[in-house]
Amino acid sequence: MCEERLGQAVVPLLQWYRKNRRDLPWRTGRTPYSVLVSELMLQQTRVEAVKERYVSFMEKFPTAESLAAASEEEVMKAWEGLGYYSRARNLHKSAKIIAAEGFPQTWVGVRALPGVGDYTAGAISSIALGLPAPAVDGNVLRILTRFFADPRRIDDANTKKYFSDLLSRVYPPETGEFTEALMELGAIVCVPNGPPMCGACPWSGLCKAHAEGREEQFPVHGEKRARKLEQLDVYVLRCGDRYALEKRGKGLLAGLYGFPLVGHGERPPAEGELLETKRAKHVFTHVEWHMEGRLVEVPQRLPPYLWATAEEIETAYALPSAFKAFRVWLK
Ligand code: ADE
Repeated sequence: MCEERLGQAVVPLLQWYRKNRRDLPWRTGRTPYSVLVSELMLQQTRVEAVKERYVSFMEKFPTAESLAAASEEEVMKAWEGLGYYSRARNLHKSAKIIAAEGFPQTWVGVRALPGVGDYTAGAISSIALGLPAPAVDGNVLRILTRFFADPRRIDDANTKKYFSDLLSRVYPPETGEFTEALMELGAIVCVPNGPPMCGACPWSGLCKAHAEGREEQFPVHGEKRARKLEQLDVYVLRCGDRYALEKRGKGLLAGLYGFPLVGHGERPPAEGELLETKRAKHVFTHVEWHMEGRLVEVPQRLPPYLWATAEEIETAYALPSAFKAFRVWLK
């Protein structure tokens, strides 16, 4: 019964998509590799932020072979500003696998690539390989729970499974278009913040929540988990024209270069003259960093740090956005 109703919604959605789709850079000249790049970039990052970065990344690394041959530093630099750098490392690893073995041809093969979860495997399989594999995220759950006025909680893994199964049974032969049409409807009509634009929706005559005037009662969310707050002291240690960087170990921003930091009030990483302080905040998905930045002039370029000039920090090291507020001290 649900399957039949959703089945009726497929063609109107495809027709709407062909007329209204946004002209996004990854939607032309596609290869399986380019789809992998764009889908990894689009994880946790807004379309607007990805647009430019995607174009320059593809200019630099147009094929899996070219990316596989690049150094980790070059890849991190090309990813700079997009955040969540583990994606860049995973993409690099995937490129090496693809360069050696060819692009996988099944959902299971795509899902096995580093950094590819169920959603991204569905997107890549349907867009690049023509497989009827749904990509269900919060946006797709929003449009479907509204379509059916379905009260299932969208933070429940069973809900995602239920709608994935349902969608996979109605996939048309135009698999990639259908996947992107669902994403597009969630992005530009059945929007996440504020009221949906039902006047522009191809499903307005089919949608149960709309018929009942209850669009904004869906989706049903569970309890929100609060982000963990971390109080940190960030040290910009200066010696002459050079600044201390450390390669971060496990955890957030792992493997990237950043300014030395310690828990708030803990022992400073080096002795010197405190010149300035500045507060800043950076919000990650599950953690917030509340930072006190300290610019300190130190007498010696001590290990274990890498001592880089302001220019080297700008050009060679992908300093994460979390430290952006303290860049003003680099001269
Ligand atoms: N979000 C994730 N994948 C996308 C795509 N292919 N187009 C638009 N938004 C997306």
